[in-house]
Amino acid sequence: MCGIFAYCNYLKDKTRAEICEILCNGLAREEYRGYDSAGIGIDGDGNESVYFFKEVGKVAGLRKKIAEAKMNTSKVFSAQVSIAHTRWATHGPPSVRNCHPLRSDPSAEFIVVHNGIVTNANALRLVLQNRGYTFESETDTEAVAILTKYIYDSQKDKTISFTDLVKLVLKELEGSFAFVFKSVHYPNEIVTARRGSPLLIGVKTEKKLKVDFVDVEFSGQDEKTLQAAAPATAGGLLAPPSTGSKIMRTQSRAFMSDDGIPQPIEFFVASDAAAIVEHTKRVLYLEDDDIAHIAEGELHIHRLRRNEEGAPQTPATRSIETLEIEIAEIMKGKFDHFMQKEIYEQPESVVNTMRGRVNFDNNQITLGGLRAYLPIMRRGRRIVFIACGTSYHSCVATRAIFEELTEIPVSVELASDFLDRKTPIFRDDVCVFVSQSGETADTILAMRYCIERGALCVGVVNTVGSTISRETHCGVHINAGPEVGVASTKAYTSQYIALLMMALQLSEDRLSLQERRKQIIQGLHELPGQIRKVLESDAHLREFAQTVLDTSRSLLLMGRGYQHATCLEGALKIKEISYMHSEGILAGELKHGPLALIDENMPVIIVMTRDSLYPKVQTAFAQITARKAQPIVLCNEGDEGIPKNVKTIRVPQTVDCLQGLLNVIPLQLLSYHLAVMRGFDVDFPRNLAKSVTTE
Ligand code: F6R
Repeated sequence: MCGIFAYCNYLKDKTRAEICEILCNGLAREEYRGYDSAGIGIDGDGNESVYFFKEVGKVAGLRKKIAEAKMNTSKVFSAQVSIAHTRWATHGPPSVRNCHPLRSDPSAEFIVVHNGIVTNANALRLVLQNRGYTFESETDTEAVAILTKYIYDSQKDKTISFTDLVKLVLKELEGSFAFVFKSVHYPNEIVTARRGSPLLIGVKTEKKLKVDFVDVEFSGQDEKTLQAAAPATAGGLLAPPSTGSKIMRTQSRAFMSDDGIPQPIEFFVASDAAAIVEHTKRVLYLEDDDIAHIAEGELHIHRLRRNEEGAPQTPATRSIETLEIEIAEIMKGKFDHFMQKEIYEQPESVVNTMRGRVNFDNNQITLGGLRAYLPIMRRGRRIVFIACGTSYHSCVATRAIFEELTEIPVSVELASDFLDRKTPIFRDDVCVFVSQSGETADTILAMRYCIERGALCVGVVNTVGSTISRETHCGVHINAGPEVGVASTKAYTSQYIALLMMALQLSEDRLSLQERRKQIIQGLHELPGQIRKVLESDAHLREFAQTVLDTSRSLLLMGRGYQHATCLEGALKIKEISYMHSEGILAGELKHGPLALIDENMPVIIVMTRDSLYPKVQTAFAQITARKAQPIVLCNEGDEGIPKNVKTIRVPQTVDCLQGLLNVIPLQLLSYHLAVMRGFDVDFPRNLAKSVTTE
């Protein structure tokens, strides 16, 4: 959902060409977040203070435009700041006009890149238009750029610092955001801020940093005092100040070398670590309501307001953390697409999820992040899984085994619906938030809702340092490695295993369940080899894709029990990347409606792997073949029960509750081939973005 990138260098010579290259590379790494259009804003020459380059479509198009531009590319900058953006349209269609950075006026006194949605943008626009400002785009972001100029223009002596100016701007905004501001009035400075959308800052120096953390202190200058410094800020016409909020002065420490001598330093601001890791692994994650100011080689963090009552405590320091991802992990390597690479990574990614946590010798599971909370979890009245999309399907897939092992009732909730219903949540509830990105707005809002109500909140997240991993009380990182393809694949199998491990750990002291636990843990041991075996059927699945493609634009998937989630997930994969209608159906529901869809022209995949529900799925098979359907059967190797004339996709057999981990892989591959054959851009499906940071 839009990717932000900014680059600042101090005492470090860079040519304009190098700066453009750094910006475009950063955007390319974040392209999965939005790819409607991309743009950069860099220091210009003479009267043209900023050069903008903007292009609809992918970053490749932007690169071409920059390469063709007439400008002095060898001009050297020993200090400069530049900002860049890749867009996923919310306000206004993809167009050069709506592409970021947005400017405040034709001479670009202030320029802004933004991720998120400013929900009171229309009101702001009206107020600003009434005061004579003109707009050139349809975006909410432009209102923010113009508002910044308006507040700046209202200053009598123009001595306001860039940070204080941005604080005044942010106070007028509603919604969620991550911003970077650049201005001709504050050369070589940027201000960046977040509320609801992720932001991190990479720091690259040759010498060791003197401090590895930044104090964020709250002293109580209240908003009135600060507003007095900005006469006619909003004249009371814009959004009313949020009651009780305070603007905080901070005493943040600057980065210095050991000997206190200024040293060459570079800063990279990004929505995702993937855009930073090729430059530095030392990063600082911003919290909601943090405002970071970068100037003269120093980074200062300020706070916009105090924590509201009940809200999670914001730590008083921001430490520099070390990224654990490697550059190779975010490259496609020998694969044509990230999705394909990530499907093929699953034999390793599932091992990484289990590494150091599953002891196959004594059948013990140790999830360190949960250990201290196990007694509370075991005492919980119920467990509520909350997630969206594929992550939700991993919850559906593991609910039954969770209930079986823990004997605690589990409900599974779609985050958006959970919030819409204002679901009752109590102090003795355990709420588990499952999210690959850890930044999905619906899931974050649901998490905060549950925190406010006193429930124990557990995160199951892939992205280290993400909002959900930081704000939950405890949790498990799934360690699947960066997932770049918009269609989630390896995160699903790793989430599935993480939830299963959680249930296994919770049930470790149940004597009656030891045999079952042992069976599952041994099944986990064999899993990577079995996944490899499934991947060998790729060529066969490509042929199936061709058959499906030749016959129809729709595809039904049906199964029951553990395989209902497999069907939901398979159907989601097919529709999101091949744009083909597909539905996952609980086979038990067939006779209550979906059977009406069945005839000789409707392709159906029926999941009939061996478990206790096999006879019931056989009945469903009989019901659809009686209506002339010619289903493809996803079944176990060596299953002789399937009629000889039926097309099959065969997978190894495993323990019932693990079978979904194998069954989903042919469906991932099938969806991949369908999309490639239909000529679609697998890693960048239309209208979708990887991380959905708006409601
Ligand atoms: C589908 C897909 C989405 C995400 C959903 C939740 O392939 O990727 O359905 O699963 O947007 O995202 P996370 O897991 O990041 O919260």
